[in-house]
Amino acid sequence: MSLLTITKLTASVGAEVTGLDPAALGADDALGAAVLEALEDNGVLVFPALNLDPQAQVAFCRRLGEIDHSSDGHHPVPGIYPVTLDTSKNSSAAYLRATFDWHIDGCTPTGDEYPQKATVLSAKQVAERGGQTEFASTYGAYDALNDAEKERLASLRVVHSLEASQRRVTPDPTPEELARWRARPTHEHPLVWTHRSGRKSLVLGASADYVVGMDLEEGRALLADLLNRATEADRVYSHDWSVGDTVIWDNRGVLHRATPYDANSPREMLRTTILGDEPIQ
Ligand code: SIN
Repeated sequence: MSLLTITKLTASVGAEVTGLDPAALGADDALGAAVLEALEDNGVLVFPALNLDPQAQVAFCRRLGEIDHSSDGHHPVPGIYPVTLDTSKNSSAAYLRATFDWHIDGCTPTGDEYPQKATVLSAKQVAERGGQTEFASTYGAYDALNDAEKERLASLRVVHSLEASQRRVTPDPTPEELARWRARPTHEHPLVWTHRSGRKSLVLGASADYVVGMDLEEGRALLADLLNRATEADRVYSHDWSVGDTVIWDNRGVLHRATPYDANSPREMLRTTILGDEPIQ
């Protein structure tokens, strides 16, 4: 019998998990393995009203893999990063406006780290308006291509950069901002990610700047068209947060974004990321 009660939220992405004892999450290896399996199958798992405190969230995440500590220092609990536009709660909040665009975490690491396996977000405070988190399957985006497109895209490579994603929300950067963005190395990835599992997905989103060897505008138009198709309304799960909800997504197989919310909104999410062990190849 499955350890989890799972209800699919859309045909292509997302499932709700209910009936869990939050205390068991941080202490049960079998439960961790069941969550990872469900994540691979559904891309996004929603745990309504789990009410994890930050320590319990980190303990749960340890059951899923090795925790990413590279963003520590913005919250008293190591492994927790506050996602908020309030600079008094997070001094790096300015970068988070880029989360309003579709993206895949981990496409522009500071070194040669692989994309994070999973991201866990819990709602501490929610926005009055906006602030939903939306998800679309990148496996589904690949599967929906016709055979000729699959053949055409198979060999294409795309350069990703922090500058590309930041320019969308800050089109006229100061020289200092530009220098900070450009200090992060660019990364070239295949457009089609062939996973260890044999599944294939498209690597798209705000960090995707241009297609190698293709006319700049033609390549950007292709990336925009693929992203639009991947994120059509009927392919998207939109999570409308209540305080205490926890959501996990699989960065290897989903794009995500936050819908815009006011800069003065109290919205605060607590994020923990699990390190990846699979290169984009
Ligand atoms: C993120 O992109 O990591 C955050 C998404 C959100 O705030 O809903």
